[in-house]
Amino acid sequence: MIKTIEWTDEGVRMIDQRLLPTEEKYLMLRSFEEVAEAIKDMAVRGAPAIGVSAAMGIALGTKQAVGTSVNDLQEDFDYICNVMSQTRPTAVNLFWAIERMRAAFQKAMIETKDVEEIKQRLVEEARKIFDEDLASNRAIGRFGGELIPDGATVLTHCNAGALATAGDYGTALGVIRGARDAGKRIAVIADETRPFLQGSRLTAWELAQDSIPVTIITDNMAGHVMKQGKVDAIVVGADRIAANGDTANKIGTYMVAVLAREHRIPFYVAAPISTIDLNLSSGDEIPIEERGHREVTHIRDQRLAPEGIEVHNPAFDVTPNEFIHAIITDKGVARAPYIQTLRLLSRV
Ligand code: MRU
Repeated sequence: MIKTIEWTDEGVRMIDQRLLPTEEKYLMLRSFEEVAEAIKDMAVRGAPAIGVSAAMGIALGTKQAVGTSVNDLQEDFDYICNVMSQTRPTAVNLFWAIERMRAAFQKAMIETKDVEEIKQRLVEEARKIFDEDLASNRAIGRFGGELIPDGATVLTHCNAGALATAGDYGTALGVIRGARDAGKRIAVIADETRPFLQGSRLTAWELAQDSIPVTIITDNMAGHVMKQGKVDAIVVGADRIAANGDTANKIGTYMVAVLAREHRIPFYVAAPISTIDLNLSSGDEIPIEERGHREVTHIRDQRLAPEGIEVHNPAFDVTPNEFIHAIITDKGVARAPYIQTLRLLSRV
């Protein structure tokens, strides 16, 4: 099992995803600032993994707070939550996890005035969020695995696997693992996913570790392989799903969805309920992160573009709900009209 993130007595341990696949190195983050930096700089990435990391960072920072009164603790806690909320804007799991930690803090404050007890409750909440994420990915795998036929080749974009979650199964790759664990023979085509290369570096690495056959292609080959009849289904993850089903995911996902519709290939989104943002009526309201230009102009230290050139680097795009065959969640499979089905599933 790939251990993406772990709570330890020393701090938060995580695999450094910037170095994969050439180096398998683990970071030990000993302060909440280090956790926040790891999220910002994408040592850890993927919506559920960002949420779990933020919860652990908040628990770690609060545990280390030196104030002795509940008021001091509250001040430090609010500050830490605020730092975490500034790390990345698109994945709603980050804000969902911060809200969970806030609710746990409020509940603990009502029940006890013992500062050490409150700190302990926050550690427990972060560990609970971690455990729940593992379980929800298994559920996504069970529900989604049923939709994938035996012998299918599944195309995926970015990395929505163990590395993008607390570990183990993942969301989109959870569906593939669910089908595999149900005895089906599944092969994967992984889009390289420019510019950060989550597909070729991370998806290919984790599927190879798991002995699931995987072929990588560059993003501009997706239409060609679909036209050749080489793709039976597409499964991607999500960073935020609006109430109407519009889905923000890694830049390039929208292009894949449009191609899938043209070639009549089912296009599935796999995500836990914590990725659904019922406060947003459509995908137009989802904030899209603009990342540093160096991600586009360079690969590691190799320059690929002229110096001083204009660059646009939106990290996500929004796929309109009408392109999505089904949204596979940990509570079940939602189909159109999403405005109703997502609300119903969120209440389960
Ligand atoms: O920029 P990233 O690598 O954090 O983006 C990740 C994605 O877009 C994933 O597909 C998404 O978070 C789903 S992860 C289960």
